[in-house]
Amino acid sequence: MHIYKINCKRLCIFVIIQILLVSSYYYTRRDTNTSLDGKKISFINSGNIKKSTKKTYHTQGNQIVLDKQKVRDKFVDFNSSLCFLSGTDIKSMNRLKNSWTCNCKTGWHGSECGQPEVIWRALLKHRNKINIKGFRQFARRMLYIFQVDEFVENLVDIRINDLNEVIDLFILIENEGNRIEKSLKNNFLKKFHNKILYLQGIGLDNVWHTILSSLPSLENDDIILVSKSYEIPNKFALSFFKYYDKWPEPISLRLRWSVFGFFWKHPSKTKTEGVICSVKYMQDIFNSNFSMLLNNRIVKGLIIGDLNHYGGWYCEFCLDPEQIIRLANTRSDVKFSNWKELKKGIIDASYIEDLIGNGLYIDGKTELERSRKYQDSYFAPNYVLENSLQFDYLQINLYTKLDYYEG
Ligand SMILES: *[C@@H]1O[C@H](CO)[C@@H](O)[C@H](O)[C@H]1NC(C)=O
Ligand SMILES: *[C@@H]1O[C@H](CO)[C@@H](O)[C@H](O)[C@H]1NC(C)=O
Repeated sequence: MHIYKINCKRLCIFVIIQILLVSSYYYTRRDTNTSLDGKKISFINSGNIKKSTKKTYHTQGNQIVLDKQKVRDKFVDFNSSLCFLSGTDIKSMNRLKNSWTCNCKTGWHGSECGQPEVIWRALLKHRNKINIKGFRQFARRMLYIFQVDEFVENLVDIRINDLNEVIDLFILIENEGNRIEKSLKNNFLKKFHNKILYLQGIGLDNVWHTILSSLPSLENDDIILVSKSYEIPNKFALSFFKYYDKWPEPISLRLRWSVFGFFWKHPSKTKTEGVICSVKYMQDIFNSNFSMLLNNRIVKGLIIGDLNHYGGWYCEFCLDPEQIIRLANTRSDVKFSNWKELKKGIIDASYIEDLIGNGLYIDGKTELERSRKYQDSYFAPNYVLENSLQFDYLQINLYTKLDYYEG
């Protein structure tokens, strides 16, 4: 009875407020209606123009608010247990109704099916026992920081499209040329502009300070991911770090090493690059020094990926032959076997086409291994697979001399 009374009291107040709101709305509306004339129309127009030019990518000095997301939304409640949406075989769970455990899809593990294969293996192999805690109430926000230039435009496109779901802010640093800036102004990656912070001409020593001044809401638990060059991290591995706690820092990624496109891979090597750590770790251990983080020589914490399951992709020389030559001419670390010939201009596009066609690495010796799209579960990032037309040159060897070629 008593409760009912209180509810009534609240209800009455609520109704009165509603009436006040509605009537004030009509009152102000009538007011503006009466002043409707030519002036008003021009006001609306200028307002619209302002809006459309304002909605673009962020630059140095902009204040960016990072949203907080509830991790619970990534899990489904099956009465007896909460299971991670991406990792759970929902169909079989629905069929079995009273199951007390989550049925994981192949390639997923853990009691909530929250651990993709690469993470599960890395945790098992780690020298110390790891007691992962979670899931968390709110997801850690993840910043992905990388340097850009004209030679990575296609990889930037793939990275941002592929990782959009898990990355909260992409921070692009362009210190050589302004190719990417021009593209952004030309609507490159337009639909992600609200998630892009573009920085130019910032020395590595100032990177972290500059980022912090744009992100007042950054918290100690939030995560930084940095890439050095041609990496595309594994999306599912990244999401794990956002939702769970007590993983060892720093993390690095062992990547599948593709060359010229995803159709060739290095026969024996993987590439270990990229660093992941929390904001707190960046400040306490890396001393807020971005070059220290980038060239991490501190103890390797946990490596995600092995010879069969990868923490992502490293796509070296995933460019057309002309661009590969330009790259070799601008970078001292690109070493063709016959370097002098390159300098003399004897190495030309058709030489590179032969290397790609025959699967020979730029040292002129190492024979690359074929990778087949439909037989290889780590052939390429999802976004590439789903956009075959746009990325056909990365999936099909266009220069092969073989009569037959199956993908
Ligand atoms: C949910 O769990 C209860 C026991 O806690 C059980 O009686 C009920 O049948 C379950 N319902 C479904 C849909 O699994
Ligand atoms: C950051 O670390 C590098 C070494 O990785 C060092 O050369 C540089 O002086 C450091 N910068 C600052 C501001 O401490």
